[in-house]
Amino acid sequence: MANPRWVFGVKTFLIFISLYLSLASCVIATSLEDSVAQQKLDKVHKLPGQTFNVSFAHYAGYVTVNEVSGRALFYWFLEATEDPDSKPLLLWLNGGPGCSSIAYGEAEEIGPFHIRPDGKTLYLNPYSWNKVANVLFLDSPVGVGYSYSNTSSDLLNNGDKRTANDSLTFLLKWLERFPQYKERDFYISGESYGGHYVPQLSQAIVRYNGATKQKTINLKGYMVGNALTDDYHDHLGLFQFLWSAGLISDETYKLLNVLCDFESFIHSSSSCDKIMDVASEEMGNIDPYSIFTPSCSANVSQSKWLLKRRLMVGQLSEKYDPCTEKHSEVYFNLPEVKQALYVLPEVAASKWETCSDIVNINWKDSPRTVLDIYRELIHVGLRIWIFSGDTDAVIPVTSTRYSIEALKLPTVRPWRPWYDDGQVGGWTQEYAGLNFVSVRGAGHEVPLHRPKLALTLVKAFLSGTSMPGLEQVSVS
Ligand SMILES: *[C@@H]1O[C@H](CO)[C@@H](O)[C@H](O)[C@H]1NC(C)=O
Ligand SMILES: *[C@@H]1O[C@H](CO)[C@@H](O)[C@H](O)[C@H]1NC(C)=O
Ligand SMILES: *[C@@H]1O[C@H](CO)[C@@H](O)[C@H](O)[C@H]1NC(C)=O
Ligand SMILES: *[C@@H]1O[C@H](CO)[C@@H](O)[C@H](O)[C@H]1NC(C)=O
Repeated sequence: MANPRWVFGVKTFLIFISLYLSLASCVIATSLEDSVAQQKLDKVHKLPGQTFNVSFAHYAGYVTVNEVSGRALFYWFLEATEDPDSKPLLLWLNGGPGCSSIAYGEAEEIGPFHIRPDGKTLYLNPYSWNKVANVLFLDSPVGVGYSYSNTSSDLLNNGDKRTANDSLTFLLKWLERFPQYKERDFYISGESYGGHYVPQLSQAIVRYNGATKQKTINLKGYMVGNALTDDYHDHLGLFQFLWSAGLISDETYKLLNVLCDFESFIHSSSSCDKIMDVASEEMGNIDPYSIFTPSCSANVSQSKWLLKRRLMVGQLSEKYDPCTEKHSEVYFNLPEVKQALYVLPEVAASKWETCSDIVNINWKDSPRTVLDIYRELIHVGLRIWIFSGDTDAVIPVTSTRYSIEALKLPTVRPWRPWYDDGQVGGWTQEYAGLNFVSVRGAGHEVPLHRPKLALTLVKAFLSGTSMPGLEQVSVS
């Protein structure tokens, strides 16, 4: 027997459900529409000085990370050259603190658009990491690159904690704008002071996911290069490298170890600064970020470079240009470039810099070690790789090796050379929870100096395989 009240109840329930469902789908549809509309607004069309077509879509713009202060972070997102739907999402962060990921990461390291010495025209980097991933560049924190705050005192109060927090907010909101990347395999990479940013942001994501039981940001791992990791061990390795590479005197080596050994890298004492100045004087006018290549300030007959470069279109990135930062400074200050990338007019009015002194000088919290974060994240099973260009005298390979040693991880696969096209590309050692990879003959910015080896590295990292040995033929 049908109970009329029960039928009534079901009916009302069904009406309610269908109303609810149509309402919900309506809400989902509008928010999807909104994000698609916002994506369209952020889509970058041809860039000034771009004389070639590209197979991938790219987007640039702002994400507000704090409405009260008016803080907004600038991003540039370049989809993979082929089949972006099947490729992971990779965030790249440069360091400083205060340096732009667009100036370094995009324009001279892993991005597709590199700048010719005229500062006006672009060429396509054949070893761009968007061959293997959808690559997101973020200018972080506020005051860096095109990122800004409407509260000027924010620029004087940047530090590690707020940077990680703002970057997490950025990612959550960015994924609302690009919902097709929600739950996509996600990796973070970076270098130098990014040695702080990358593990700290990874930790913030892991903790956020744990607290909210969400996987919107589906973090799988991170990889850092020539990364500031642990001030004590990084200093120890730095002084040893400067001395053994023959860049400083015995006397200065001894004094560095006495005056700077337990110092902070970012906030050092005046006695440590003084002996650092002596070391720098002894080193002379070399490029400490790459000790065996010419330095830009020596401007080794710049005109010859230009001529050679014009004759070698197509292989441009094979020749090392020590002055790439200077080209960025011209290009990213062109009004038409700022317009093409949707830079806020108020920001466009002031000069764009590769690195912000204001941000750097006023940096607040900077813990002396991030090894505790490594321990936490190794424990949760993230894929963690550390690479090192072995001709860098800023955060050299010796620093990285001492910092890794301090973690006391068991070795899974011992030290061995890795190969690229039959040549030793560097050395590698696999630990329980961490892979170390050195890149032979690369400076501080590994992908700038050894673009092909860097692409081999990121391929192995993303696929979770060991670095290739001699027997393996690398597929490009
Ligand atoms: C780029 O694509 C446009 C439109 O398809 C075409 O007209 C143009 O010739 C292409 N330019 C180059 C350099 O291939
Ligand atoms: C900052 O101020 C400008 C000018 O008033 C405004 O257009 C912009 O939306 C503000 N940014 C944020 C993040 O609130
Ligand atoms: C950032 O920090 C503030 C407090 O300082 C907190 O209210 C907010 O939830 C944090 N944001 C994220 C995304 O964790
Ligand atoms: C570098 O080149 C510029 C312009 O050609 C010149 O004025 C300057 O003196 C040069 N600097 C050095 C260190 O040679």
